[in-house]
Amino acid sequence: MPGEGDRQKFYITTPIYYPDNRLHIGHTYTTVAADALSRYHRLRGRDTFYLTGTDEHGQKIEQAACEKGVPPQEFVDEMVGWIKDLWSDLGISYDRFIRTTDEEHCTAVQDIFAQLHSQDDIYLSTYEGWYCTPCESFWLESKLQEGNCPDCGRDVSWVEEDAYFLRLSRYAERLLQHIEENPDFIQPEIRRNEVVSFLKSGLQDMCVSRQRESLDWGITVPFDSDYVIYVWFDAVCNYISAIGYGSEEQSDEFNRWWPADVHLIGKEILRFHCVVWPIILMALDLPLPQTVFGHGWLTLGGEKMSKSRGNVVDPLILADKYSRDAVRYFLLREIPFGADGKYTERALIERTNVDLANDLGNLLSRVTAMIEKYTDGKIPTPDPQQRKDIDADLQRVAKKAVDEAAEALEQNHLDASLTAIWQLVSTANKYVDACAPWNLDGDEQQLRRRDTVLYNLAEVLRILAIAMRPYLVDAPGEVWRQLGLRGTDTAIEDTRWEDLQWGGLPWGIRIQRGEPLFPRIDPEEVLQMDTEEKAGTDEQPQEVEHLPAIDYDTFTEMELVVGRIVEAEQIEDADRLLKVVVNIGFGELRQVVAGIAEHYSPEEIVDQQVVVVANMEPVTLFGVQSEGMILAAEDDEGMSLVTVDETMPPGSRVK
Ligand code: MSP
Repeated sequence: MPGEGDRQKFYITTPIYYPDNRLHIGHTYTTVAADALSRYHRLRGRDTFYLTGTDEHGQKIEQAACEKGVPPQEFVDEMVGWIKDLWSDLGISYDRFIRTTDEEHCTAVQDIFAQLHSQDDIYLSTYEGWYCTPCESFWLESKLQEGNCPDCGRDVSWVEEDAYFLRLSRYAERLLQHIEENPDFIQPEIRRNEVVSFLKSGLQDMCVSRQRESLDWGITVPFDSDYVIYVWFDAVCNYISAIGYGSEEQSDEFNRWWPADVHLIGKEILRFHCVVWPIILMALDLPLPQTVFGHGWLTLGGEKMSKSRGNVVDPLILADKYSRDAVRYFLLREIPFGADGKYTERALIERTNVDLANDLGNLLSRVTAMIEKYTDGKIPTPDPQQRKDIDADLQRVAKKAVDEAAEALEQNHLDASLTAIWQLVSTANKYVDACAPWNLDGDEQQLRRRDTVLYNLAEVLRILAIAMRPYLVDAPGEVWRQLGLRGTDTAIEDTRWEDLQWGGLPWGIRIQRGEPLFPRIDPEEVLQMDTEEKAGTDEQPQEVEHLPAIDYDTFTEMELVVGRIVEAEQIEDADRLLKVVVNIGFGELRQVVAGIAEHYSPEEIVDQQVVVVANMEPVTLFGVQSEGMILAAEDDEGMSLVTVDETMPPGSRVK
């Protein structure tokens, strides 16, 4: 990973989305994350290019258009309009929106296909196997799970046809070596390991065409019009066709951006980006992307949010209800980058209330109110004679927050960068209370001290406004405006990372108090309203499917005992897991890996008496041995450990 100073340019991409349906907040997550990273690199003054777009060919789109009774082109044109509006509403600052139906893209894909064919990297053979239309993936019989697609679990259809194949096998060794020599190529590490074991299990050549009679909606194989190019081959090429690969003006534009610095993708499309795409690039003799970052999923009710599962949340409705900054902040802060994260509306409200309305919003409102009251609405002049240790500490925390945020952002760790910045918000709030400017109203010296304290606080707000620019699109400008900085030489849009240095706030300027930055939301009121709205519809109560009945003997095969937790600690690199040591009675201690870290801190569970399944087969998770399970109740909103009071000693049977 290049260090902070090394980068000159930054080229980031999102997957190009299928416009077969409206996008949901899962897609929004990737797009907002890429947006935040590109805004950060622009703020650092780097030449930045952010690419997103749509993947418009293939069976899935053809079917969706057919169901709607319109030609595929008309169908995608309408959806693309909707998607562009969505990104604009959410403040997405992409530099180019590529569509795979763009003419230059189609020509580039045909040229690439023809070149690989001329090099014998693509050859004609016969495909016999399965196809999953929702994933647009070919599957061999041996890979299916219970007859279904191993990725999405849905039905697959049988395909038997002559087809062109990409000679992946020829490049497997070279790719493995590249992965081993370039630890940043696939991130996070868990994804790299997945790709390495996939490659080591033996790489088969991949079908890269469909016969025109089975699929018409695609790019024609340039030298054989009976075939169209496989949609994934077509799609991955967007990352170079969008920056001019294959065009006459290619060299300047292409050389300016390629190789990509980050391909940001969801973990389910790792194989296409970390195996197929790099091999196409190797065959073209082009450098590989710096990093492919496979993030986790946004889940709802324990499952990946996806259109076909029908458990999706509309980003526009949320942005409308809570503001686009609240949605952006929630996505970037709540979901541990790289891991799966749960979506609940309650958690979004909580984040908005606590972090944005209380911590940040109140800080702005308290500070501007005091400046209004004590210094006639003008940013006061700090007095170096009045500087105290607590001021130096605040300044140190500001520098640390900025440095740590940068370090995290250089590695694409968005949530960690926000955590670092919010350390400054929280320290500034404590500084207000510790310095209590309202008590500094005695002699001249006290008044000068008060001016110094208020200046420091306003300076923290200036720093925060700039530091928030990668993540939030409206709040930074509003903080700037309220501090009275809008009329000065520097517009918030022109600020740079260097402006985060302490002391940049001019004194004497007039502040402009305004509305609360983020109004507090009453969760009960909002969620109750939703429930009432839903109750007013014809929605039927859900039928719960119970598991098959078991007899008492089967139940007693489980050894459930009372255990007292004696030690607990977070497992490194596993945000959801705690390593817990439990006393299960009769002098026996058990080590258990429990997936409870998102709901419980290690300190709060020590000494709790819980129910342990004592005869679980041992397993190793994240390198830690687990010899049991701790019971807990869980739903979308939270989790509660099943506890037993102290009257029952460890080891007591639970029946
Ligand atoms: N068209 C392909 C990608 C081709 S890239 C050359 C595709 N499209 S998609 O519309 O299905 O979008 C998939 C991407 O959307 C995921 O990789 C991920 O970035 C994002 N997400 C979709 N659902 C998601 C969640 N529930 N959670 C997080 N991200 C999700 O695959």
